[in-house]
Amino acid sequence: MVLKEEILRRRTFGIVSHPDAGKTTLTEKLLLFGGAIHVAGAVKSNKIKKGATSDFMEIERQRGISVATSVMGFEYNGYKINILDTPGHQDFQEDTFRTLTAVDSVIIVIDAAKGVEPQTEKLMGVCRMRKTPVIVFINKMDRPTGDTFDLLDDIEKQLMIKVVPLSWPINNGPEFKGVYNIYESSLSLFNPSITDIEKGIKFDTLNEPALDQLIGNDAVVLREDLEMVEGIYPDFDHAAYLAGELAPVFFGSALYNFGVRELLDTFVKLAPSPRPKKSEERLVHPEEETFTGFVFKIHANIDPNHRSRIAFVKICSGMFERNKNYRHIRLAKTFKYSSPTAFMADKKEVIENAFPGDIIGLPDTGNFVIGDTVTEGEILHYKGIPSFSPEIFRYIENADPMRSKQLAKGVDQLMDEGVAQLFTSQLNGRKIIGTVGALQFEVIEYRLEHEYNAKCRWESISLYKACWIESEDKVVLDDFKKRKYNKMATDKQGRDVFLADSAFILDMAQRDFPKIKFHFTSEF
Ligand code: G4P
Repeated sequence: MVLKEEILRRRTFGIVSHPDAGKTTLTEKLLLFGGAIHVAGAVKSNKIKKGATSDFMEIERQRGISVATSVMGFEYNGYKINILDTPGHQDFQEDTFRTLTAVDSVIIVIDAAKGVEPQTEKLMGVCRMRKTPVIVFINKMDRPTGDTFDLLDDIEKQLMIKVVPLSWPINNGPEFKGVYNIYESSLSLFNPSITDIEKGIKFDTLNEPALDQLIGNDAVVLREDLEMVEGIYPDFDHAAYLAGELAPVFFGSALYNFGVRELLDTFVKLAPSPRPKKSEERLVHPEEETFTGFVFKIHANIDPNHRSRIAFVKICSGMFERNKNYRHIRLAKTFKYSSPTAFMADKKEVIENAFPGDIIGLPDTGNFVIGDTVTEGEILHYKGIPSFSPEIFRYIENADPMRSKQLAKGVDQLMDEGVAQLFTSQLNGRKIIGTVGALQFEVIEYRLEHEYNAKCRWESISLYKACWIESEDKVVLDDFKKRKYNKMATDKQGRDVFLADSAFILDMAQRDFPKIKFHFTSEF
């Protein structure tokens, strides 16, 4: 019974946005509501500011911050909220994609003046693929914006999802008066000088003269707008939202703490509690008595004095208990965890137990890799933590022959953390590192030196894409591998990878070998 209640009150979600749309500001305001922090400015942006790409101190500082703020749990009105933070910098988007495998829903923040930006589109693509329920928060309404209906049109088209506004802005920019909450039929008036929690004024009908007294002529426009909203948009369909087919939209200004309470109050009502999760073997329901979970993130060497790592585990079913024996499926070994931690806002604390939806940190000495499943004994493999086909490649060479062991260990561990992907060329056994962003090479080099006392050198290699190949026809597959011998490699798990020089060559290969499947994520 306790388990069921604990599951129902949990909301585990991620906030995503294109950099600068206001994700950090919104996160901070949500934490203020939850009493998890008490002053603004407590959550530092974990984005690496423009121009700081070679500032390694900055990278290190960000890593320190991001471990503290990568999961922020707090209590709000009887709900246990877990916000999973995602890196803003696009070179770390793979980290974001992986984090999204551990959320039950997502809030997408959009800058009202800029509309849908490239990162927003990509992130929405991931949500669509997983059918993750999405709520859209249109931020910065205190700045001049275009027409609200046009903006919603763009969102529908570019994000390829139906939207339905649950609140409506009254003007924008310097004329921004506030937001009418359609879902609750209440009006909240904007006051930039009062950054305290705003309260809505309830209206039984929009025809009340009090509305005109409060917002003057804007009341007329609001009535017209809402009539149009009613005509254009369907009624909010909760089931469609849960199926990831319909996104409710809210407006506000995170900086001025405006519209955030409505967002949060509605969010806790609408957003799903932990949902069943697919494993290779079967669908696992959160209410099942036995504990299961999976690792979606690993953070290593945060404290240079301790060679410790933290594995972030999302609990999918049952209750996790401290000091109980659990099975590490990939290693087929049993482990006991004496100091699992929970993340409450900016602090970590050792916990006795945790429930589905929660994220726990397990101290790790190198046993975990991303995607590992932990259970009470049942053989299960959770799915859905793909590596994406990298797009930037370099040979990695040892720059200090005395330290080849350190280099190998460092590379191995950084790959476990998911910083990049390692391929071994079949032709000459050379190691190739593939990433989705250029910044990762700098991060790897810096971390190898500072955490593993190893030095590496990069050598350029011109490749277009690495893709995993498979075929039911072994003869065809062997033939392909023989013909493309000098372009074949293996990944860390020993799977076949084709390194295509150009889009043209990849195209040709796909055409010439229709019986071979070319995969662009490692999960197929
Ligand atoms: P991000 O995490 O999505 O990258 O965005 P972040 O919250 O860091 O916000 C980016 C910038 O936008 C910040 O200004 C922030 O103060 C501002 N901002 C966020 N929400 C609003 C809003 O509702 N209205 C307005 N007008 N501005 C908003 P900055 O100057 O880049 O950073 P900072 O020096 O204030 O930290």
